[in-house]
Amino acid sequence: MTRRGEDGPLTRTAAGSSTTRESPLPTGEEKTARVRAMFDTIAPRYDLMNRLMTFGLDQSWRKGTVTALALPAGSLVLDLACGTGDLTRLAQREGHRVVGTDLSAGMLAANGTPAPLVEADGSQLPFADGTFDGMVCGYALRNFTDLAATMAECARVLRPGGRLAVLEVDAPTSRLWRAGFDLWFTKAVPMLGSVISDTEAYRYLPRSVAYLPAAPTLRAMLRHAGFSAVGIRPLAGGLSQLIVATRAGEPVP
Ligand SMILES: C[S@@+](CC[C@H](N)C(=O)[O-])C[C@H]1O[C@@H](n2cnc3c(N)ncnc32)[C@H](O)[C@@H]1O
Repeated sequence: MTRRGEDGPLTRTAAGSSTTRESPLPTGEEKTARVRAMFDTIAPRYDLMNRLMTFGLDQSWRKGTVTALALPAGSLVLDLACGTGDLTRLAQREGHRVVGTDLSAGMLAANGTPAPLVEADGSQLPFADGTFDGMVCGYALRNFTDLAATMAECARVLRPGGRLAVLEVDAPTSRLWRAGFDLWFTKAVPMLGSVISDTEAYRYLPRSVAYLPAAPTLRAMLRHAGFSAVGIRPLAGGLSQLIVATRAGEPVP
């Protein structure tokens, strides 16, 4: 079995309990190009697939992500890798002023929110230092090509004391829960994807979990990037995880 973050012909399944023989996961510029093309392709059916895949649970996790920012209404919030805008919409409902940014023009075209949208790679954000009070990011960590550079950019564009809340997939710890999760994500979801959207993209989804560093590494990377008070908490027995952190440094009054 390979560990998270390793690429190779034997790739960890969604929950890491078994292996399948697959082509290596892409890295570097090839990964960026493939991820962009994949999201451009699946954008029109992305929201429907999300609701079906998570039985609608993702909406309550997303609400929890916005709440975890613990910022007053009127705060300026960046939705990093905003996609079709689920987190943007919820943050706007909380009274925040939101800017969305994403790598995929297709996802931005399918974004139905009134927020200003900027096409950009998360590792090279076109915003000045300390621009934002908060940042949310949903289900995108494993898609970033250079996670360390992206975290450094997050820290740079947040003001000292600014808050980061990241929602990401996880792997359940209970053996039974994990078996069901594996079956759903490696068998049922690609089948659903082939009917509703794109087979290859929804085969890639469970495989892409292999890019995610384990919690201790994520914590260390965030601290190294300039965050403090890093907390990581599993949701629904590990179906997803919520990562919160504060931009280190004295808040500007
Ligand atoms: C699984 S979708 C999540 C979309 C949205 N945040 C949500 O919660 O539904 C992942 C998003 O990350 C974006 N993405 C992938 N790599 C990126 C990068 N390097 N920089 C910015 N966005 C990226 C994709 O285009 C896609 O919209």
